[in-house]
Order: sequence, then C-alpha cells, then structure tokens
Amino acid sequence: MIEKINQLLAEVEAFTCDNIDELEQFRIAYLGKKGMITALFSDFKKVPNEQKKEFGQLINKLKNEASDKIEYLKQNLRSSRKVSVGNDLSLSADWAPVGTRHPISLVRNEISEIFSRIGFTISEGPEIEDDWHVFSALNFPEEHPARDMQDTFFIEKNPDVLLRTHTSSVQVRVMGNERPPIRTLSPGRVFRNEAISARAHCIFHQVEGLYIDKNVSFADLKQTLLFFAKEFFGESTEIRLRPSYFPFTEPSAELDVSCSLCKGEGCNVCKYTGWLEILGCGMVDPNVLESSNIDSKVYSGYAFGMGIERIAMLKYGVKDLRLFFENDKRFLDQFDSNY
Ligand code: PHE
Repeated sequence: MIEKINQLLAEVEAFTCDNIDELEQFRIAYLGKKGMITALFSDFKKVPNEQKKEFGQLINKLKNEASDKIEYLKQNLRSSRKVSVGNDLSLSADWAPVGTRHPISLVRNEISEIFSRIGFTISEGPEIEDDWHVFSALNFPEEHPARDMQDTFFIEKNPDVLLRTHTSSVQVRVMGNERPPIRTLSPGRVFRNEAISARAHCIFHQVEGLYIDKNVSFADLKQTLLFFAKEFFGESTEIRLRPSYFPFTEPSAELDVSCSLCKGEGCNVCKYTGWLEILGCGMVDPNVLESSNIDSKVYSGYAFGMGIERIAMLKYGVKDLRLFFENDKRFLDQFDSNY
C-alpha cells in the first residue's frame, strides 16, 4: 500500500498538461469521488493500527500534492492563454506597421492645401475623355501636334475616345456646369504617348488651376503664383515669367522659381542657371471662355498647370522619375509627412 502511494506521488509530480480538459481528467482520476486518492482514504480502515500514522501522513501528503499541482497548472494555463489566444478584448492591440503616403500624393495634397487656403475648390473628372473636353473646347487647332497619335492615346477605332493628356479637360467640365466666379484646382492622372525615361513617363500627374471672374488680370496670376512658390518652396523664393505659347491661353508664360537647393547660386539640379521651370500659365483665351458660353467681354481668367512628378523631384531631390512608379518599399518608406 505504501508502495502504491509513493508511485502515485511520483505520477502527480511528473504530471503536466497543456489544456484545461486534460487537467480536469487528471483531477477526476486522482481526487474525484471515485478517484484513486479517495479510494485510498476508504482503504485507511483496513490499515493495521501501527501503520496508520505513517499511512495517514502519506495520503494527506499525496492529496495536498495533487491539489497543489492542479492549482499550479490551472494558473499556468490561464496566463499562457492570454498570450496565445487572440480574442481577449482586454489586451492592448498588436503593433501593426502602417504604410507611408506616396510622395506624389504628398505633393498633390500640399499643393491642393496651399491653393484651398486662397479659395480654390478641388475638382475631378474622367481619365477617359473625348476630343471636345481635351482639345476642341481648349482652342486646339485641328492640325495641332498634341492631337497626333504620337502624343495622345486614342481608343482604337474611335478617335473621339482618348486618354486625357492634361487635366485642363476637368476645367472645361467645370466651365460647362458652373457660372463664374470659378476658382478651381484639378489634380489628376494624365497620359501621353512618350518614351519612358528618367525625366518622362507615359503616365504622370498634374495639378491645373483656373480662375474666372470679372476683372481678373495678369497681375492676379503673378501674385497667386508668387504666393504658391513662397508657400511651397520657402519664403525667400523668387519667381520669373518667360513668354510661351499654349493654344488655350493668351498671353502665355512659363514660370521659373529660384533654385531652392543652391539659393540661385547654380547647381546641377538647376543646371547652373539658378532657376527651375515649374509650370505653364497664362490668361484664358477668349475663345475658350466662349466655347463654354462664358461672355468674354464680361469675364476674364487665368490658368496654370504643373506636373506633380517634376515638383516632387525638385522637392525631394529625386533624380529618376521612374522611381515614383516602381513602388519599391525602400524608396516609399523614406517619405513621411502630415499631408
Ligand atoms: N495644360 C498645359 C499642359 O498640360 C499646362 C497649362 C495649363 C498651361 C494652363 C497653361 C495654362 O502642359
């Protein structure tokens, strides 16, 4: 009998389990009503008197050891469950890596935010367009090279369906739906049939702006662009306008900003000129206003347009435009901002 108790003691000591069901089976087998330890207690009467003391002490020890073991394993299972089971709502959430915003989105958002501070709304439109919204309403002559298959992606067999080459098409839509005063900014993706290189891509992003009201002058355009340049590139930024040509603006100009990297001293980014070309602009051609039934004798307006990739390259010192399209996490993880 003593031997049997010692054997049970060894079993209790060695016992371990990894779930609550096994533990319960163990409890029933040893301490349950029909369990082995309970049976030993009823055998106690049969034990000769001179052995009763030793026997009694031993089964009490066995009983205590078994109860302690059950309690200990119960605690253990409870705490390990906290770690492995995912549905304890009182646990704090696991840390999940969040992505960063794409640099093109950051620059688009920052430009939009700067212009929205001076009353510009944001407008969007379709990427698949028709000839009217991309070219005809914008005073493009029939034979203008931009209409050519070389520049524009046309949908096969229907030259009236094409991918927009600029977001000026969105502004034609706004002019069709709203009456002046109009002050809107149209960011979006555009498409041109160009060879992909470090400086050009067949898909890129633009932000174009349009302001139409009574008495809008070139001075308003210049002040607005100076405000933008200082907000975006820094307070000490200077601008200069060079005459240019666009079918939809007259007069037209290109805007340069003083190079923010070398502060106008000359560096390889500004090609030692001290200036960086950032956008095209001009006074909306009266033909464009009339195409949208806006009286060009009453209203005038200005427009401007810039490529987001180019601005992002200047802002972040990125030398190859293709990096914006590759979605290499090592590149994208470097950008973090409030925009
Ligand atoms: N739409 C022109 C382009 O895509 C940019 C521009 C917009 C120029 C408005 C002048 C005025 O190149």
